[in-house]
Amino acid sequence: MSGLCAACRVGIAIVKGDGIGPELVESAIEILNAATAFDGPTLDFETVSGGADTFSRTGEAMSAETLERLRTEYAAIMKGPVGLPEVRHKGGTEGGLLGGVLRIGLDTFANVRPIRLLQGVNTPVRHQAGDIDFVIVRENTEGLYLSRGVGVRTAHAASDQLMVTRHGCERISRYGFELARKRRGAPKDGARRVTCVDKSNVLTSYAFFRAIFDEVAAEYPDIEADYRYADAAAHDLVADPGHFDVIVTENFLGDLLSDLGAATVGGLGMCGSANIGLGVSYFEPIHGSAPAIAGKHLANPTSQVLCAAMMLDHLGYVEVAGRIVRAVETSYAHGEIALNSLGQPREGTLAATKTIISHL
Ligand code: NAD
Ligand code: IPM
Ligand code: MN
Repeated sequence: MSGLCAACRVGIAIVKGDGIGPELVESAIEILNAATAFDGPTLDFETVSGGADTFSRTGEAMSAETLERLRTEYAAIMKGPVGLPEVRHKGGTEGGLLGGVLRIGLDTFANVRPIRLLQGVNTPVRHQAGDIDFVIVRENTEGLYLSRGVGVRTAHAASDQLMVTRHGCERISRYGFELARKRRGAPKDGARRVTCVDKSNVLTSYAFFRAIFDEVAAEYPDIEADYRYADAAAHDLVADPGHFDVIVTENFLGDLLSDLGAATVGGLGMCGSANIGLGVSYFEPIHGSAPAIAGKHLANPTSQVLCAAMMLDHLGYVEVAGRIVRAVETSYAHGEIALNSLGQPREGTLAATKTIISHL
């Protein structure tokens, strides 16, 4: 319990999401309830509306009123994946997404995406459990995504702009170095290392990003500052993942590299993430709503379950959070959850959830 009060009531907002979102969130809630039953806080879950379904009904993915409630009324937010490819704005982009609404609206500037290969999980790469254990710290409020919703399009051309600010680069770099101080270093050599991933060989905005990263790095002489161009990073994340400890990167690059990292650790269903700011934070899988498998109980709930652990950890309930992570690890290590080649648990979503609960 880490000194926090077990009798406390903690308000958690739930955004169930679209596609596989509701079934995954249901799994995570079951696990949270089971894990907190004896010595945890009482979690009061309250569902709020948001996503593609909301957009189809109301014309916006989340109302301003709901966003304001999320900002002010809850300790944390558990979010399932949202969006459906067919739900689109006239301009061609998707209407049901919440990335812009929540990340900008709550100023959750750090998208923290742990990529870890667990014992017992099949991977298409040749590495073993323990060889892959790094965290992508993705800048979440600017970069190429600053153009979200304001790109320009004519009949002949279209444009989005990539912009980074000193404030944005500084705070994401500092987050990365602080995180590295809390970790045990890279699997290969134990070095505490923060790798700046950019394309500063080509684009001015990335050169600026790296310059600010260097200014912050100078404040952390105990942590190795390291660099990769994004193309080489993509290569090394597959060929030499044990080199990486913490990666700090721009928004769009972080989006791409995190799905690549997931492929090396058993698929998208293995990876949860935290969107962290100075106010309320929210927790969601790195993947999307996987509409083709929605409602079939084929999806791997591990991503959402690890989100639940990250949420409890963030709220200070470190022991309960650790118990959930260990239950996931044991379930795979014992072969009680086994994934098929598509990253789906062979026995289905519900059985995987029950297995994790049995190890709490
Ligand atoms: P996706 O992540 O939904 O699916 C990619 C592939 O991974 C599919 O084969 C899918 O079946 C599989 N997959 C994803 N999660 C899985 C899980 N837990 N277990 C097993 N397999 C899983 O990506 P997509 O198809 O490009 O996007 C679908 C929708 O999700 C789109 O509307 C997209 O915009 C949205 N999206 C939302 C978020 C979010 O809410 N954070 C993130 C990414 C994509
Ligand atoms: C993610 C997603 C989002 C992103 C989309 C759905 C807005 O892919 O969280 O990784 O691009 O950031
Ligand atoms: Mn993504």
